[in-house]
Amino acid sequence: MSAHTSPTPGPKRVRVHHLAEAKARGEKLAMLTAYDAVTAAIFDAAGMDILLVGDSIGNVMHGHPTTIPVTVDDMIPAARAVARATKRAFVVIDLPFGSYEAGPQQALETSVRIFKETGADAVKLEGGVRSAPQIRALTDAGIPVVAHLGYTPQSENLLGGPRVQGRGDAAVEQLAADAQAVEEAGAVAVVLEMVPTDVAARITEIVRIPTIGIGAGPHCDGQVLVWTDMAGMTGWSPRFARRYAELGAALQQAAEDYVTEVKDSSFPDEEHSFNK
Ligand code: KIV
Repeated sequence: MSAHTSPTPGPKRVRVHHLAEAKARGEKLAMLTAYDAVTAAIFDAAGMDILLVGDSIGNVMHGHPTTIPVTVDDMIPAARAVARATKRAFVVIDLPFGSYEAGPQQALETSVRIFKETGADAVKLEGGVRSAPQIRALTDAGIPVVAHLGYTPQSENLLGGPRVQGRGDAAVEQLAADAQAVEEAGAVAVVLEMVPTDVAARITEIVRIPTIGIGAGPHCDGQVLVWTDMAGMTGWSPRFARRYAELGAALQQAAEDYVTEVKDSSFPDEEHSFNK
């Protein structure tokens, strides 16, 4: 399949109402991260419903150990490139740490700037009850919001690192309250990260908006992965990420072949040179 034809039937362009309609029809939503135009065009042509310009750009592309240092200025050029390269997928951009927690006004200022400068379709932010006022303000301003519950990487210092959330009755009740709060505030979907399968299934049942799981089992309304984990770009992927390819090894092999052929002068050959 070339990068110019989509194998996926369905809407020409995934819009906000298609997300709820997919849940109502029992159709799963496929979502991957993307941080640049090249990969966004490939994933879009593959039939991805949603592309997330995640603040995982900090770990994946910028070499930070966490998402904490990521800024709005880091996110905007990536989101712009992804939105430009995308014909069909719904493009969501993460609000990075420090750009929305102060309250609805800060969330609105950040999101208005992002919307004006990128062409994204929605923003994503972390937190349930605590972020509901921000979600309400953005929704009232016409900005669709995807919420993010369970393991929330921007709070990794508080949570003690990447650990499964929603274990134990109190934690399950809190997660359910958070999911209901983001739905009531107007969120159009909710990411559930590192949550036990049965808990994610319960949340999926009690909210009308789609749940998108990452390490949350098979019963969510959709799934999201960081693309470099799914494509095997590095030697390590989290336990919940299936490696659909070994692109890192293939790319290294290609680079090694190139080095060899430059050194032994077998590249460029006549085919790759210009004659008079
Ligand atoms: O930034 C990101 O990649 C994310 C996913 C883990 C959902 O938020």
